[in-house]
Amino acid sequence: MVAPLVLLENTENHATLKLSPPSGGLSLQGKIQVPGDKSISHRALMLGALAEGTTEIEGLLVGEDPQSTAACFRAMGVEISELNPTHVVVKGVGLGNLQEPTTVLDAGNSGTTMRLMLGILASHAGRFFAVTGDDSLRTRPMSRVVKPLQDMQAQIWGRKDNALAPLAVQGQTLKPIHYHSPIASAQVKSCILLAGLLTPGKTTVTEPALSRDHSERMLKAFGADISVEPETNSVTVTGPTQLHGQKVVVPGDISSAAFWLVAASIVPGSELLIENVGVNPTRTGILEALEMMQADITLENEREVAGEPVADLRVRSAKLKACTIGGDVIPRLIDEVPILAVAAAFAEGTTVVKDAAELRVKESDRLAVMADSLGKMGVEVTEHPDGLEIVGGATALEGAEVDSFTDHRIAMSLAIAALMAKGTTAIARAEAAAISYPNFVETLEDICQA
Ligand code: S3P
Repeated sequence: MVAPLVLLENTENHATLKLSPPSGGLSLQGKIQVPGDKSISHRALMLGALAEGTTEIEGLLVGEDPQSTAACFRAMGVEISELNPTHVVVKGVGLGNLQEPTTVLDAGNSGTTMRLMLGILASHAGRFFAVTGDDSLRTRPMSRVVKPLQDMQAQIWGRKDNALAPLAVQGQTLKPIHYHSPIASAQVKSCILLAGLLTPGKTTVTEPALSRDHSERMLKAFGADISVEPETNSVTVTGPTQLHGQKVVVPGDISSAAFWLVAASIVPGSELLIENVGVNPTRTGILEALEMMQADITLENEREVAGEPVADLRVRSAKLKACTIGGDVIPRLIDEVPILAVAAAFAEGTTVVKDAAELRVKESDRLAVMADSLGKMGVEVTEHPDGLEIVGGATALEGAEVDSFTDHRIAMSLAIAALMAKGTTAIARAEAAAISYPNFVETLEDICQA
């Protein structure tokens, strides 16, 4: 560690992360592993809970979001061992057999927990559920799943015309639909498919562009009657279908690896090997974008593990060039736009991100927060309703006081930007990183060399 690179100052409920890189500069070196994929971790816990028999999970993300999922399903009678990255056991209750919880289900900060779970709850006939989340999640749009579920005759009530949590659900036997989703969202797609598991007949979702397909892959592995039509981005589940407990191996999260891919690209003289990263093609938009920016990244030891493609990623620092990112690649790098904005600050030319209005309804308004924060650090950023224009070519940023707005990906993106800033950057509410990456700061300390 290069002192005083990192200092966490705790206030009552929050921690400020202070980074003061040494004036002589630093580089990033080493071989690291990132925590388990968040999307796959949620799905492993949920399908394990719904399946008949035991599911064993290796590589689970032990972050706050999967803890929320586990807590919700435990409250519905599912036995789930203590979460750890090596071996988690879920004793499935069998489809349709979740118990009515005697208290409110709390999805915490996790949109995936709430949206996927709503499909499951709405189709559990004869049981009543109440669902809530933290301050951020209670502002995020739920109508995108409530409306199609209501088309399936689900009974759901919530604030603002059923658009916001807290939500109440009276489980029903639902009617199958063919839903043409207006947005490419894996949370919407997965919610409807999960509702379709208990619904007699064919439930189909068609999306405008392909979003992450972890649900489809895992449902197939668990024995669901599911078919995919790639030409039309459609998936069909035929219910009722039974699931059978499986062994799931969760690869490292490419969304977490993205911080190191950008960090090593922009910090001169760096080289990192990031082992065991999931490289599912519906998630590798970040690799395509960084390739367009002429980053130096190679995939090594490519293999398939438990139905998901995996590789080790080697990244060396490089002179980045600006690029334009928009269209169908956006759903494949949706969570990586904040860290790509950091890369763009160092890329020669003006980088344009468009078609990314979805970022405004994530854990924070990620377009506004990144424009504002990078602006404070001396980068010229123009905010558009659906994207950003970032004037690059910086060799160093200016240390500043910024805020994560309790958004994990903002906290970590700003920490990477701070590595290349003169003076001290203080990131308020940086504890948010633990949502998806509990040991982010430790890894940062390990790889920094003076
Ligand atoms: C996720 C889907 C994406 C992503 C989120 C995780 C998932 O959200 O941003 O972090 O696990 O299905 P949307 O479906 O809203 O795009």
